[in-house]
Amino acid sequence: MTPTRFADVKGFLPENEGEQLANWARESASLGPLLEIGSYCGLSTLWLAEVARESNTVVFAVDHHRGSEEHQVGEFFHDEALVDDAGRFDSLPEFRRNLLANDAEDVVIPIVAPATLVARHWTTSLGLVFIDGGHSLDAALADYRNWSQHVVKGGLLVIHDVFRNVAEGGQAPHAIWQLAKQSGLFEPVGSCESIRALRRL
Ligand SMILES: C[S@@+](CC[C@H](N)C(=O)[O-])C[C@H]1O[C@@H](n2cnc3c(N)ncnc32)[C@H](O)[C@@H]1O
Repeated sequence: MTPTRFADVKGFLPENEGEQLANWARESASLGPLLEIGSYCGLSTLWLAEVARESNTVVFAVDHHRGSEEHQVGEFFHDEALVDDAGRFDSLPEFRRNLLANDAEDVVIPIVAPATLVARHWTTSLGLVFIDGGHSLDAALADYRNWSQHVVKGGLLVIHDVFRNVAEGGQAPHAIWQLAKQSGLFEPVGSCESIRALRRL
């Protein structure tokens, strides 16, 4: 049996979705750098990093590392191991450890800041944008509006946690996937579980 990739890395991306993300990255990496919003401990980052290395490009990994709503103390996905000395959620040390352990520091550019703040100053065109940050409607809409415009023609916009049945969760990712589909700027190219991609026309 093939061992699970990145088995020691905490995260929210099942292996089949990680492989699919890497395949999409492989298709689009020649068009421009890869960028993700929402790195957490680096699981999706590492799937992208492998492709970045093969393709001689980089991954911009945007995350303030303070966690989303569901990671805060008392919430369902809180992890007591990811708390700093002042008692605040902080996934940055674990993220950096995982980049180092997987030899990915030379292809990943961590950007430790809120995605909206980074977006205000962003001008680089991108081959692939992966949206997996805050899952509130406001956060997902901001990520879609701020980052989809930087995907080059032929490049891919990938969204995580898009559920066919919105009652399963993921309403905000589903809403931005619909927006992208209806915008006339993107066409859907495929899905695997809850991860979906659209190509920039
Ligand atoms: C679901 S986790 C990402 C999971 C990760 N992609 C993986 O493969 O395991 C969401 C991440 O988005 C980050 N995040 C949430 N809102 C953000 C924002 N406005 N700006 C930057 N990062 C944000 C959180 O800190 C958290 O690490």
